[in-house]
Amino acid sequence: MIAVTGSLNIDLVARVPRIPRPGETVLGSTLTRHQGGKGGNQAVAAARLGAAVRFYGAVGDDGFGAELSEALRDECIDTSGLRRVAGASGCALISVADDGENAISVLPGANQHAPLPPGVWPRELRALLLQLEIPLPTVVAWAERAHAAGVPVWLNAAPMQALPPELLALLDLLVVNEGELAALGAADVRAAAALGPRRVVATLGGRGAVAWDGRQLLQQPAHDIWMIDSTGAGDTFTGALAASLVQGRGFDEALHRAGVAAALACGKVGAREGMPTATELDAEILAE
Ligand code: RIB
Repeated sequence: MIAVTGSLNIDLVARVPRIPRPGETVLGSTLTRHQGGKGGNQAVAAARLGAAVRFYGAVGDDGFGAELSEALRDECIDTSGLRRVAGASGCALISVADDGENAISVLPGANQHAPLPPGVWPRELRALLLQLEIPLPTVVAWAERAHAAGVPVWLNAAPMQALPPELLALLDLLVVNEGELAALGAADVRAAAALGPRRVVATLGGRGAVAWDGRQLLQQPAHDIWMIDSTGAGDTFTGALAASLVQGRGFDEALHRAGVAAALACGKVGAREGMPTATELDAEILAE
């Protein structure tokens, strides 16, 4: 079972012709509401591909909170690590442009109260997947506890922020986009691995992904896509990578599956709507 510790948001998505510049107003077409949050999205991406997932996080005692937790249970995700706290649930305001690009503002709400790790690491949790939409000290505490239990720690360093060296040193796998890689002060994935993580993957949008597996550089070309909405593509990539690794697939194959899954996720509006099941992903890979 994978432990995913992270955020849950309700995403309010405005469809606009293009992302407004600072100070600019653009007229959009539709406003839709979706399940989101990087933690929840990655948990769902992994669960749809057949991984057993337990989610640790927090929702508010508002209407959104019940909806967010029910959506995880609908995906057969174990929510025994989910807390309900007083106040608002997380919410994200997202503009999606006609070319599929997005701009996101997150109001963390209850995500700021994501739980600390259990005192004794549960034996059934064989990997830990983290992101950066919950407080950094909580992320570090989870990474330390998992590492002490001999469990691999996987971090998607999104959204971008400075990472303490002690956290980087605990990572078995770091997943970043180009901006997050640059924020680490690393010129490439190999240089990022020199900061501590055993393996590093950089997603390159329409150019695929590149990885350092500790010994060699791996290239993953982009999969052809029908771009509707790129929201959640990075989450699908990371969740699919985690599912593939916990299922015992090689790193190269896991990267391939993650890239194809992320491409499929861009075909529908909403972070989770386009995430494939294992059957859908296998069919797409067969058709390549
Ligand atoms: O990565 C996409 C996610 O970022 C959205 O679902 C939104 O909630 C923000 O967390």
